Amino acid sequence: MASAHRPLVIGHRGAPGYLPEHSLESYRLALRQGVDALETDVVMTKDGVMVLRHENELTRTTDVASRPEFAQRRTTKVVSGKKWTGWFTEDFTFPELLSLGAPTESQPIITLDTLLLLVADESQRRGRRVGLHVEVKHPTYFASIGLPITEVLLQTLADHGVDAWNSLPGLPTQRVWLQSFDEAWVREMSTRTDLPLVQLIDKKWGAVDCAEIATYAQAIGPKKSMVRKKGQPPTGLADEAHRHGLKVFVWTLKAGRDQADRLFEAGVDGVFADYPNRPIAALADI
Ligand code: G3P
Ligand code: CA
Repeated sequence: MASAHRPLVIGHRGAPGYLPEHSLESYRLALRQGVDALETDVVMTKDGVMVLRHENELTRTTDVASRPEFAQRRTTKVVSGKKWTGWFTEDFTFPELLSLGAPTESQPIITLDTLLLLVADESQRRGRRVGLHVEVKHPTYFASIGLPITEVLLQTLADHGVDAWNSLPGLPTQRVWLQSFDEAWVREMSTRTDLPLVQLIDKKWGAVDCAEIATYAQAIGPKKSMVRKKGQPPTGLADEAHRHGLKVFVWTLKAGRDQADRLFEAGVDGVFADYPNRPIAALADI
């Protein structure tokens, strides 16, 4: 059972196949390439600012390890069940984060506020909404250390009038979505907001109970191989999700049009893509 609408192409962290992930320029490039929506990850700083990063640990994309003034902040923590050693956003103020450079290219860390302004501007320019998928990283962990990530998120979205965005013209899937791998948090959000929710799913889930997920979320976000592996027929997960009224957004496309074609044929409602122009080109020929 295919999706009833043209699937969305969602710029995953911007267009990180071309420009550094989560940077303003990367998001702008994804928009220029014609994405329907953007995806971002949010974490918190010590002073309560919601910044766009995949990990709260800073080493991979900044020069923090070579900054002597921050040497004492290196530490080991367990975050969402995984042990990390390094430097963490929650131990830095936002101005301190801005003082960090990136190891290769200088691309400042940006906030959710900045991305919401970009999406609003682009929606106005296009005359229809641009979708946004906000993935909250480690919400239970941040709450446990006294950083109210859920409250800051909801307040930030309210400040930008995001509820009203979802009634602008556009595809039914082209909306502001909240998403997480943290099942307890997605369940909690179903009681705290009317925004649509994506339950992200990786292979650690085992069997996916779409009937149960449909009681608290509006979509699933599985790893792409859970929907269809190369050289194989669809697994049936997309059809099962659709039977329960759930949309299906898969992560993460990095390859060329064969990969996109394979997933579109399996009936997904959207793809998170590192090279957004590739699935966009594949869709142009459907
Ligand atoms: O949006 C889904 C996808 O981004 C989840 O994986 O690790 O890239 O955040 P990750
Ligand atoms: Ca993500």
